[in-house]
Amino acid sequence: MHGETLAPKKMVQKTIIEPFRIKSVEPFRLSSESERSAFLKAADYNPFLLSSDQVMIDLLTDSGTSAMSANQWAGIINGDEAYAGSRSWLKMQAVVKDLTGFEFILPTHQGRAAERIIYGLVGGKGKTFISNTHFDTTRANIEFSGAEAIDIPIENATDPSWIHPFKGNLNTEKLEKIILEKGAGNVGAVILTVTNNSGGGQPVSMANTREVSRICRKHGVLFMLDCCRVAENAYFIHLREEGYSGKTYKEIAQEMFSLTDGAVMSAKKDALVNMGGFLALKDKDIANECKSLLIITEGFTTYGGLSGRDMEAIAIGLEEVFDADYLTYRMKSTAYLGDHLNKMGVPLMLPIGGHAVYIDAKQFYPHIPVDQYPGQALACELYVKGGIRSVEIGSVMFGKYDSMGKLIPASMELVRLAIPRRVYTQSHMEYVIETFEILLEDRKNVRGMKITEEPKFLRHFTAKFEKLDQV
Ligand code: F0G
Repeated sequence: MHGETLAPKKMVQKTIIEPFRIKSVEPFRLSSESERSAFLKAADYNPFLLSSDQVMIDLLTDSGTSAMSANQWAGIINGDEAYAGSRSWLKMQAVVKDLTGFEFILPTHQGRAAERIIYGLVGGKGKTFISNTHFDTTRANIEFSGAEAIDIPIENATDPSWIHPFKGNLNTEKLEKIILEKGAGNVGAVILTVTNNSGGGQPVSMANTREVSRICRKHGVLFMLDCCRVAENAYFIHLREEGYSGKTYKEIAQEMFSLTDGAVMSAKKDALVNMGGFLALKDKDIANECKSLLIITEGFTTYGGLSGRDMEAIAIGLEEVFDADYLTYRMKSTAYLGDHLNKMGVPLMLPIGGHAVYIDAKQFYPHIPVDQYPGQALACELYVKGGIRSVEIGSVMFGKYDSMGKLIPASMELVRLAIPRRVYTQSHMEYVIETFEILLEDRKNVRGMKITEEPKFLRHFTAKFEKLDQV
């Protein structure tokens, strides 16, 4: 026999572990199902109206919910709170300039403040904005200015079961058509959202970004990146797009920025902080006008709406997020939850996105019609059975009424399980998976919901519901 066959097999661990130790913990109370039923009833069946003490695993959002590192907490103490010229600002500015390559950086208290400044300035009546999908605050800021916002994801992007490596891509054929139709001068901006949050957390490829860039340059249209999950998007490019496996995640992000004219960032996501944002621009004239608006509504140009300590934490977080071990753990842990649910037969938005797993509630509860809000029913069940908070992204959030008061449903009925960064462990995710086993068994008995009270705008935050007895 040959020696090689006798040699002991080398074991290689397959488990991707959390690349951190937990230094500080935040206990939560383990509640019972009957307690949670009462909590939810008192919250009028709207998980937004629960207090966080009533929630065990909070997957409402990945925004502002990250656990900061020991280094970031040290940075908090080091924060320089000077009104002007804070060294924490200089540090944040240097990191953002290095990442984005843009000359003009404006700090803001969160993403939507940066959106209001830039889209308010280049928007207004008669203007059109075009995106793979505008996030709801982006759309709201654009529409508030009097402009219109058009979403053009690629064909089939709204089919949850359709598999595509870059399902977040923008439809470039339609883009050129719309620009020609509207007239380039009437296009406020083209906005590429990476990853595409409202479209299922799906990534955008570099090739698509390059093509959007080419079209925008050809027609002289402003091209902005909504980059709040740009590191997660870079992970997918590294993994799936030819020619990128040899590049670092940061280099990939830098290349993406280089194709655009500016960026808006909610630092509450990939900068691994609880509050913050920025606007980054190439053009001096636009930047100067934005600076005036910044001073009026956010604060002086060296702090925007932020404390020095916030800026210090952003500077550190923006470096940490591109760490290969962190990003691998982050993306594998989202996939861990998604793959398990998929194997169990939970209908999902596929492939699994970066920051969240999206459940197709229309398929999960096929007996509940869309005007009885299957997504809301699922979010409520998930809370009652497991103490897990999620969010409906369907006809409660995006539904409208026609002139007869009949619901015009959203294009999809999704429930989002957004995963906060560095917060939950694998056993928390296993608990979520087990809760879905219970939900699957009981799915036929679940009934729809009725809205009993709702505000005019952004109704999902405060609407009140009742459970229906029958379909
Ligand atoms: N753009 C995208 C793609 C977002 O996902 C968000 C926020 C914003 C802009 C606005 O940033 O909250 O800092 O003002 N998304 C959160 C979420 C709220 O839960 O997905 P912000």
